[in-house]
Amino acid sequence: MRTITETAVMQAQGLAWRKEGLRVGFVPTMGFLHAGHTSLMDLARQHCDVLVTSIFVNPTQFGPNEDLDKYPRDPEGDAAKCRAHGVDVVFMPSDFYPPGYVTSVRVAELTDRLCGVDRPEHFGGVTSVVARFFGVVQPTVAVFGEKDFQQLAVIRRMVRDLAIPVEILGGPLVREGDGIALSSRNVNLNAVDRQRALTLSGALRALKAEVQAGERDVAKLLAQAAERVDCDKLEYLELRDGDDLELLTELRSPARVFVAGRYGGTRLIDNLSVL
Ligand code: PAJ
Repeated sequence: MRTITETAVMQAQGLAWRKEGLRVGFVPTMGFLHAGHTSLMDLARQHCDVLVTSIFVNPTQFGPNEDLDKYPRDPEGDAAKCRAHGVDVVFMPSDFYPPGYVTSVRVAELTDRLCGVDRPEHFGGVTSVVARFFGVVQPTVAVFGEKDFQQLAVIRRMVRDLAIPVEILGGPLVREGDGIALSSRNVNLNAVDRQRALTLSGALRALKAEVQAGERDVAKLLAQAAERVDCDKLEYLELRDGDDLELLTELRSPARVFVAGRYGGTRLIDNLSVL
């Protein structure tokens, strides 16, 4: 496994692979890797000849009062996990944005809801950094997790709208044994909040069980689920269409429930397909 820190070197390598006719797989991350990230590497490996993972805590997707400074880091542990999951190149750019960088990519509509409400600048930062990563790495296939379901939808739309020649694959959300969605941010929870945070996934599971038992009243399902969540601030709890992320007032397939809750300075998200 090779580590590349210079953007020009990464791009030259990506272009050389493409010229050789190799399928380049790409899993972008912000590091502090866990089993959710490595599941994406395993999935990507099945679709490529060479695999690149980027580790870059992208400042432009954090708001002014968000947790950029507290975002956890573990470069050595990350390298070991990448090696164990068949990564050929870890791209940890030290010069990612060129001097005078002024361009941004913004996907409208899909970003005005869910996480876009509380984090208005977030998705613009994500699409801009991912678009530049695609230009640098030149991937044939890139994998994103359903943990960030809205992010996956936004990236798919960007790739379609800008005709970027990359195939996007979604990987299933990976959970701890107790149900909590794996997240690099979970380490920032104290023991009490870690326990309280179980109510996020618990509420989603209970809602799905209600739907499976025949309940179809959206308002009732959401009110019951909100009762079950214990957090400092519930940012959203919504049932939406799993394709276009439109709000559902009546239950129909594909339906997905989305939640975001704050525990002190830590914001956690989760989602689950319900129908
Ligand atoms: P990060 O939060 O590090 O996540 C990197 C990738 O791992 C994303 O595609 C995310 O959806 C996926 N992931 C995280 N937790 C997961 C879990 N429990 N199960 C499955 N997949 C999971 O998302 C980002 O970084 C950034 O926005 C990025 C795309 C790298 C752009 O900066």
